[in-house]
Amino acid sequence: MTDKHRICVLGGTGFVGRHLVARLAAEGHYVKVLSRRRERHRELLVLPTVHVVEADIRDESTLIRELTGLDTVINLVAILNESRRARFRDIHVELPRRILSACRKVGIHRILHMSALNADSGRGTSVYLRTKGEGENAMHAESGIAVTSFRPSIIFGNDDRFFNRFARLLRLTAGPFPIASPNSKLSPIHVDDVVDAFVHALDNRATFGQRYELCGPKSYTLLQLVEYTADLIGANRWIVGLGPTLSALFARLMEFVPGKPLSRDNLASLQQDSVCKGPIAEVLGVKPISVEEVVPTYLQPRKSRVKYYRYRQNARR
Ligand SMILES: NC(=O)c1ccc[n+]([C@@H]2O[C@H](COP(=O)([O-])OP(=O)(O)OC[C@H]3O[C@@H](n4cnc5c(N)ncnc54)[C@H](OP(=O)(O)O)[C@@H]3O)[C@@H](O)[C@H]2O)c1
Repeated sequence: MTDKHRICVLGGTGFVGRHLVARLAAEGHYVKVLSRRRERHRELLVLPTVHVVEADIRDESTLIRELTGLDTVINLVAILNESRRARFRDIHVELPRRILSACRKVGIHRILHMSALNADSGRGTSVYLRTKGEGENAMHAESGIAVTSFRPSIIFGNDDRFFNRFARLLRLTAGPFPIASPNSKLSPIHVDDVVDAFVHALDNRATFGQRYELCGPKSYTLLQLVEYTADLIGANRWIVGLGPTLSALFARLMEFVPGKPLSRDNLASLQQDSVCKGPIAEVLGVKPISVEEVVPTYLQPRKSRVKYYRYRQNARR
C-alpha cells in the first residue's frame, strides 16, 4: 500500500501523460496537471482527484505558485522538433533546471523525470538526444531532491504516434512507401508498462537517484515495424528502405510536410539503435508486453461498409 501523494504532472496532457494521470488518479493520488491549454483536455477534466490548470511553465514564479502544497513532481514535457516558439534547450534543459529550483523553494523532495534511451549530453547523435541528456544530468545534479529518471525506447499504445502515424501515412499515400534509416533497431515498450515503472518507483527508496532504461521484450528494425503495420492494416505496399544519402534527402523533404513526419534531427536520433543493455530493472516490477499482443487490437484493416456487413454476417453464423 503506497502513501497518497499530491503530485504535479508537467506534460500530463500528452500521450504518456494521459495514461499516467489516469492511473495515478485511479490509485487515489491528487494530481495537478499544468497545461498550456486546459480546455483541450476534457478527458482529464472529468477524472476525480485530477485538477488541470492553465499555466505558463516557462515562468518560475508560476511554477512556485502551482507547486506549493504538493509533494512530488513528474516531468514529461519534451518536443521532437523545434519551432520558433519552442527550442530544444529551453524545453529539455532550462525547464528541468527551473523545476528543480522551484522544488527547492517550495520544499518538494521527490521528482520523477522522463528522459529517453540514448539521451547523452556529449555523445547523443541528435540535438534532441544531447539536450535530453543534459536535462537528465541537471536533474540528478541536485542533492536533497530524490530524482528517478526513465529512459524508454519508442513507446506504443492505442493512441500512440508511432504505429498510428505509419498506419495513417500508409493509408493516405500510394505507390512505394519509402523508409529512412530502415535498419535502425527499436525495442517498443507499451505505455502501460512505462506507467507501471513510474507508479512502482514513486515511493520506492531503492529507485532514488537511479536512471532506468525501459524496453519491450523484443527488438525490431524500423523496416520490420513498418512492414508489420502495413500487414495489420491490409495495405499491400512495397516498403522501400532508403540508404544513408536518400534517407538524408527524404528527411529534409519531410520537414516541409505539415506535421513534420520526419526531420533531420529525428533521423540523427535513429543513427543509434534504441535498444536496452538488459531487461528492465527488477525493482520496477514491470513485465513488458509485446507489440504482437497489443498492436493488433488497435490497428485493423479498414473494411468497406459492404465488406464489414458480410464479415458481421459470417461471424454470426
Ligand atoms: N512517445 C514516445 O515514444 C517516447 C519515447 C521516448 C521518450 N519519450 C519521452 O516521454 C515524454 C512524454 O512523451 P509523449 O509522447 O507523451 O509526449 P507528447 O504527447 O508530445 O506530450 C508532451 C507534453 O508536453 C507539453 N509540451 C509540449 N510542448 C510544450 C511547450 N513548448 N511548452 C510547454 N509544454 C509543452 C504538452 O502539454 P500541453 O500541450 O498541455 O501544454 C504535452 O502534454 C517526453 O519526455 C518524451 O521525450 C517519449
